[in-house]
Amino acid sequence: MNTRRQLELLDLHPEIENVTREVCEGLQKQQKSLSPKYFYDERGSELFEAITQLDEYYPTRTELALFDAHLPDIADLIGAGSCVIEYGSGSSLKIRKLLEALSPLAYVPVDISRDYLLSNAMALAQDFPQLTVLPVCADFSQSIALPEQVGGLNPIGFFPGSSIGNFEPAQAKQFLGRVANTLGSGGYFLIGVDCKKDPAVLERAYNDEDGITAAFNLNALSHLNHLLGAEFQLDAFEHEAHYNQEAGCIQMFLRSTARQQVSIGDSIFAFDDGERLHTENSYKYSPDELIRLAEDSGFGCEHLWQDADEYFGLYLLKAL
Ligand code: TRP
Repeated sequence: MNTRRQLELLDLHPEIENVTREVCEGLQKQQKSLSPKYFYDERGSELFEAITQLDEYYPTRTELALFDAHLPDIADLIGAGSCVIEYGSGSSLKIRKLLEALSPLAYVPVDISRDYLLSNAMALAQDFPQLTVLPVCADFSQSIALPEQVGGLNPIGFFPGSSIGNFEPAQAKQFLGRVANTLGSGGYFLIGVDCKKDPAVLERAYNDEDGITAAFNLNALSHLNHLLGAEFQLDAFEHEAHYNQEAGCIQMFLRSTARQQVSIGDSIFAFDDGERLHTENSYKYSPDELIRLAEDSGFGCEHLWQDADEYFGLYLLKAL
């Protein structure tokens, strides 16, 4: 019997010309950089899922334990008739726990990786037959339009995995401001954020022994090779991640292991031996810092849950 349900996709994926332009702009800068959203093609999403299960990578299991301990309270605070909007349809374990605890009427996963988004959305639609699943393929760092079917429901934004830390603080503030707007006054935003801690613990989490994080970082290049016909040599770049204490973030780079040129269409980019291409920052926020940021962006903090080590924070924010 075929129980697959039809899903209607709202496709707001940017045009490929805009993607090429954005990538080339980043490679023309003094400090070459790539947007972290290019990590996430299908393989990138799979590698990321593998990162979340690494011994060294404490955030996922810590956040999951906070969910297990506190979801009943969270569900009580949020109430019925909700629509969950997930920014980045990531580890399906977390969203499953949330959907079970809240029993929302609708679920709107927003993700840039269309195939991954659709296969996750399909699986959830099948396992939660009462749930209306409305996937939106979009870059959530921009303003997004919600499907019109969710009007009238009680919107709950969901942003786990400390993904807020992958924005620069100024962008994080803009993002939070847009989310507050999308949710509207009284809307809740459940967000998981990694805390500041011993740099050795932080650095270990981004330099795992099996090299999964390295493979994930390098996969951004193979994604661009496929997507744009770029010609990055994957074996001529190396993963590098360290904690920048002043900035309060893990910084990830791909370091060129040779003097080389890389072409993308008609453009050519020269790399020196040892030159670094910046791929991602992961900012860490103390609770004071995060609550301050939220308050500066149109939210109040209703509740904060932390583990005993205070490694991770789960915040329930409310749009003012
Ligand atoms: N946002 C999480 C973090 O910064 C997960 C993540 C995003 C990540 N990009 C990553 C983890 C790259 C490892 C490597 O920790």
